[in-house]
Amino acid sequence: MEKIAIFASGNGSNAQRIIEYFDGHPNIRVQLVVSNKADAAVLGRAERAGTNTLLINREQFYQSEELLAELQAQGITFVVLAGFLWLVPSYLIRAYEGRMLNIHPALLPGYGGKGMYGIRVHRAVKAAGEKESGITVHQVNEQYDEGDIIFQARCKLLPSDDAETIARRVQKLEHEHFAPVIEQFITDQL
Ligand code: GAR
Repeated sequence: MEKIAIFASGNGSNAQRIIEYFDGHPNIRVQLVVSNKADAAVLGRAERAGTNTLLINREQFYQSEELLAELQAQGITFVVLAGFLWLVPSYLIRAYEGRMLNIHPALLPGYGGKGMYGIRVHRAVKAAGEKESGITVHQVNEQYDEGDIIFQARCKLLPSDDAETIARRVQKLEHEHFAPVIEQFITDQL
C-alpha cells in the first residue's frame, strides 16, 4: 500500500477531495494530513474523514528532522502539497525526491514563485489581461514552483471575470484533476 501525506496550510478543499478519491482504493491511501496552522480548516476536514493529522511549527520543520522521522514511522511513500505555503526544506525534498507533488493555481512558469498563492495569483492573471489560466501539477524542488511539470489543464477567461471568478473556475479544475493525476503519478512508479 502506498501512503500519502498531504501538507496543507488553509481551507483544504483539495485535501478533502484527495482523501475522498482514495477512500477504498486498492493500492493508495491518504495516511496523514500535515499542517503548519492550528486554525486551518483542513485539519477539521481531515479529522471528520478519519485521517490522522499533525500540526508542525517552524522550528520542527526547519531546525530538526522530526517530521521526516514521523513520516517514515507512518510509512509515508509520497508527499502531496495542496495549498502548503512554506518552502519545503532540502532534507525532506531529498528524502522524497521524485515522490513529492505540488499543485499551483496557474499555468507555470507564469504566475509562480514566492508570494504567489491563492487569490494573489488570480489577481495577477487578471491584471495582465490573460485570456486563459489553469492549473499546474509539478514535482517539488528547492525553488518555489519550479520543479518538473507533470500535468496542466486550462480554462478560458472572459474580460468580465474578476479574480474571484477566476479562482472558482481554476479550483474546479483542481478538484477534477488533482487526485487522478496523483493516482497516475504513483501508479507509474509502482
Ligand atoms: C489551491 O488553489 C492551490 O492551488 C493553491 O492554494 C489553494 C488551496 O486551496 N496553492 C498555491 O497557491 C501554491 N502556490 P484549498 O486549501 O481549498 O485546497
